Amino acid sequence: AQKIILDCDPGHDDAIAMMLAWGNPNIDLLAVTTVVGNQTLEKVSRNALAVAEIANIRTIPFAKGCPRPLVREVENAPDIHGDSGMDGPVLPESTMQFEEKHAAQLIIDLVMSHPEKSITLVPTGGLTNIALAARLEPRIIERVKEVVLMGGGYHTGNWSAVAEFNIKIDPEAAHIVFNAGWNVTMIGLDLTHQALATPDVVERFKALNSKPGQFVVDLLAFFSKMYKQAQDFDAPPVHDACAVAYVIDPSLIEVQQVPVSIELTGTHTLGMTVADFRYPPKKCNTWVAKKLDKDRFWDLVIDAVKHL
Ligand code: BDR
Ligand code: CA
Repeated sequence: AQKIILDCDPGHDDAIAMMLAWGNPNIDLLAVTTVVGNQTLEKVSRNALAVAEIANIRTIPFAKGCPRPLVREVENAPDIHGDSGMDGPVLPESTMQFEEKHAAQLIIDLVMSHPEKSITLVPTGGLTNIALAARLEPRIIERVKEVVLMGGGYHTGNWSAVAEFNIKIDPEAAHIVFNAGWNVTMIGLDLTHQALATPDVVERFKALNSKPGQFVVDLLAFFSKMYKQAQDFDAPPVHDACAVAYVIDPSLIEVQQVPVSIELTGTHTLGMTVADFRYPPKKCNTWVAKKLDKDRFWDLVIDAVKHL
């Protein structure tokens, strides 16, 4: 199984990403770390424990990370994720404890204590923790197998006309992560907008007739309402689960190797992921996701939730 660390800000789609990672036999989830994003660090961390409770995740460490971006002020997304960061389902209390360690330190400790190139980092929130870890212990850059992140987009934005939320809330962190030297696969909006939880998908979660299945149904009901209001989507895109799915089975997603730069200064383009498609593949460390096999993707997610 592929070892991963999930760095997230739950978040409806982060929750589904967690459930996919835990329920799929090809993933060995080593730890869950949290970062400010969809809501405050305290709220998203609480949500992570609620998901752990529902999904029966008890044996791995959870650690909290950064309560704010590296440079910019905190920006949350209550218009999409509600006041709790994960509105909709009743969130169970959890008795689980967070590690004393900072998320960045836990990431470093795990990467340094496992064999080289055995761990994939899967960030599904702002890149603050990952950037901090890379600066604090640069040896992890060589040792990580790759970074598969949800963020960005080469033809579309959602937090501005051209920038995606996870990148825009901490563009300096994104710049560090994209330029560190490790391989980065960007699972951006071009891809994740193909992962829409349409009514037939919701029906399949309902038909599981289980607590985790119902939890997903409740998440998707709220997510769907907000996505209709905020962005006029007929069904909500389950962004973050796509990054985990790519690690499980890369044949689900077509990617292309292209240079990607993060816009750090533009008045209208701050946080844009500028992908350069002009030439045949240059030597670069970045790949962008283009096409999703959505039928097999949903089979994978539903199967994972069934096995929780
Ligand atoms: C990303 O932003 C967050 O709101 C979601 O959880 C996802 O990670 C999509 O732009
Ligand atoms: Ca997220």
